[in-house]
Amino acid sequence: MELWSIWLSGFVLIGLSLFATQRLPSQRKVPNFNQKSALDSRNLNITFFTAPKPFFGSTGTRQTLAVRSWLALSPHVTVVLFSQDPSVASFASGFHSRVLVDTDIDFTFLGTPFFHSMIAKSRSFPSNVSVILDPETIIISGFISTLNHAYDLDHDWLLVASSRNVSDFPFHLDESGNYWQRDNGKRMKIQELQDFLELNWQWNRCDTRMIMAWNSKEMPLHNGVLPPFLYGKGIHNNWIIHEALSSEFRSVFDASWSITSLHLNDDFDPVGKVSTALDIETRNWEHIGNSHIGALYGSFFYTEANYSSLPRLLKCGDQYVIIDTRENIVYPIGGSGPGNQWKEKILLSWLRKRTVSCIGGLKSLNRISDCSLKDQTKLSTPLELPFSLESLLSATADKNKTIVLTVAGYSYKDMLMSWVCRLRHLSVTNVLVCAIDQETYQFSILQGIPVFRDPLAPSNISFNDCHFGTKCFQRVTKVKSRIVLEIVKLGYNVLLSDVDVYWFKNPVPLLHSFGPTVLAAQSDEYNKQGPINLPRRLNSGFYYAHSDGPTISAMEKVVRHAATSGLSEQPSFYDMLCGEGGSNRVGDNKCVEPETNVTVYFLDRDLFPNGAYLDLWQKKNVRRACLKMGCFVIHNNWINGRLKKLERQVSSGLWQYDPSTRMCLHSWHSIKLILREH
Ligand SMILES: *[C@@H]1O[C@H](CO)[C@@H](O)[C@H](O)[C@H]1NC(C)=O
Ligand SMILES: *[C@@H]1O[C@H](CO)[C@@H](O)[C@H](O)[C@H]1NC(C)=O
Ligand SMILES: *[C@@H]1O[C@H](CO)[C@@H](O)[C@H](O)[C@H]1NC(C)=O
Ligand SMILES: *[C@@H]1O[C@H](CO)[C@@H](O)[C@H](O)[C@H]1NC(C)=O
Ligand SMILES: *[C@@H]1O[C@H](CO)[C@@H](O)[C@H](O)[C@H]1NC(C)=O
Ligand SMILES: *[C@@H]1O[C@H](CO)[C@@H](O)[C@H](O)[C@H]1NC(C)=O
Ligand SMILES: *[C@@H]1O[C@H](CO)[C@@H](O)[C@H](O)[C@H]1NC(C)=O
Repeated sequence: MELWSIWLSGFVLIGLSLFATQRLPSQRKVPNFNQKSALDSRNLNITFFTAPKPFFGSTGTRQTLAVRSWLALSPHVTVVLFSQDPSVASFASGFHSRVLVDTDIDFTFLGTPFFHSMIAKSRSFPSNVSVILDPETIIISGFISTLNHAYDLDHDWLLVASSRNVSDFPFHLDESGNYWQRDNGKRMKIQELQDFLELNWQWNRCDTRMIMAWNSKEMPLHNGVLPPFLYGKGIHNNWIIHEALSSEFRSVFDASWSITSLHLNDDFDPVGKVSTALDIETRNWEHIGNSHIGALYGSFFYTEANYSSLPRLLKCGDQYVIIDTRENIVYPIGGSGPGNQWKEKILLSWLRKRTVSCIGGLKSLNRISDCSLKDQTKLSTPLELPFSLESLLSATADKNKTIVLTVAGYSYKDMLMSWVCRLRHLSVTNVLVCAIDQETYQFSILQGIPVFRDPLAPSNISFNDCHFGTKCFQRVTKVKSRIVLEIVKLGYNVLLSDVDVYWFKNPVPLLHSFGPTVLAAQSDEYNKQGPINLPRRLNSGFYYAHSDGPTISAMEKVVRHAATSGLSEQPSFYDMLCGEGGSNRVGDNKCVEPETNVTVYFLDRDLFPNGAYLDLWQKKNVRRACLKMGCFVIHNNWINGRLKKLERQVSSGLWQYDPSTRMCLHSWHSIKLILREH
């Protein structure tokens, strides 16, 4: 065997030198898609994953052609589109069960899916081969046959393939979606395609356009934890290739020469560009880019320059081979012969005839259009979203101009994420986060959360034990009323919810129904019976402030009082609105502030229980106990210490975030939650 491979590599070298003197561009054959080997009848189940843009204009046309080209490859192809856009759902509905839309992964608040979430989700689909690719990549030929041969390898693998970019493609798929034809209805001939590609063979190695395919076995693609890359914003494929190689879980091949794929250039097309305010902001978001994210996580990448050193999987004549140019070795794969001897014989005679042309084909690598990573992996500017508070409000508020606000510091970042994930799960999208420090701000951006920084927040605020009763806690809580006031003044209703309030269902419609001049707040009353509006029983960690003149005046009183008080803001709420000692109490569950006539409504303790009520947190099944009472939320308060609070929430199962993968928990996860504490 060794002798044999030395012989072969000698031949490859001869081939290379022959090539130098004798260029044979016309030998860049398109794989012949009429001939099928035995492997080709295997009918592997293949799932394509991508995240399309909305199906409008020319982008929509190109994406439609691409998806149809994948479905045309084999009846065993299924397509999964990650998107929350209604146009994608309506596109998919035209293909019955062959095209699925998946919304159950992590998206940024602007609707860009997270790549790590896509990769994780892809593992939950049963299929033989998984493919991830750009939504505009059209696959013409060679794909199925290449996969069938790669599937024959005795090692797990990852294939990458570049596509070429063309300015126009004169063929389209017929009605049935099975054949490529010209506009005049004539079927495309192989020669025609070859002639066309001969003229247009500029390669594009930009990583987002790359096709990645792998056999879907237990073995993961990579070892490390994926940084929270945004899909389609560059370099995530380079990261995967680098990690797949360095983890040695899989063999990585470049199959660009055996798969014919292309994408149409994105010409300027005014019809295709829908320019909404959000679009403009989406473009702003793009300046962050994955290179920035990668740099933050100190990630390593497989650079453009390295592609030429990947072993290549290609077809010469009827034989698939892997050529490792660094080692000058050729391995045959597949073939239906009775054994190695046969393979060898065929291969040798084949090699005599074909090596020159195969190596000739490889040389087209020189024609690669470069999109170098060189400048991309620098950390130039600080990570920042270009949104003002006003633009975030208008982008996220619901149609009643209501937003759900939380204020958080870095020591509670995991709890913040769990809270955000829970609201995403409940499809509550009008969420806004106020970060009281730079770390929380950056963390939130990386998690796709609409976040702004409180410019007035005290800078020294996020140390470990910022819990109830501490000086830090008092300062943090005072940020909250100030921010709520600012937003209510801008004309938005605010539901303030601390991150330790677990939501069972969305309370906004109920709270909104109280109308103007009513401030609805959670009661901290722990007794089962009796009034819930007794002195200092107002919990300022969960309340709804309607945007109107009297409420603004009432909030101003609270903020003014809190600013000079040595206590947290919570007593200020009660004392200013209900009067010291409860002098403004009305009935068992209200107060009326006499100067503004604002009513403080204490929320039903069965529907909005605090952490002490009925010892709910001590119940074996907290969720079931709460749901039985009809809870909207439960507050994880009345417990001292951040760690205890965290443990109580995680162990009760009212937890929705996995810090080790940087993803929200989804039903398709099977993750053992390990909270690492310092
Ligand atoms: C592909 O999936 C179908 C339906 O799940 C199954 O019947 C078939 O055996 C699968 N094909 C292969 C090659 O595993
Ligand atoms: C393809 O996958 C199915 C289940 O997903 C499995 O039963 C089948 O054996 C696989 N086929 C091959 C050829 O590995
Ligand atoms: C391919 O794309 C590059 C850059 O996007 C462009 O400069 C080039 O003209 C394109 N090639 C063809 C054949 O359209
Ligand atoms: C990638 O390319 C760089 C620069 O050409 C080189 O230093 C590095 O060793 C290469 N890495 C691999 C894995 O080939
Ligand atoms: C920040 O607060 C901590 C805890 O109170 C304190 O030890 C530290 O000295 C403070 N740092 C600054 C710069 O004020
Ligand atoms: C908006 O207000 C209307 C009228 O009060 C109410 O019916 C609706 O549920 C509210 N929508 C939301 C999302 O709260
Ligand atoms: C508050 O209500 C009382 C009685 O209804 C009324 O006399 C008073 O003018 C109101 N005050 C304000 C500020 O609206």
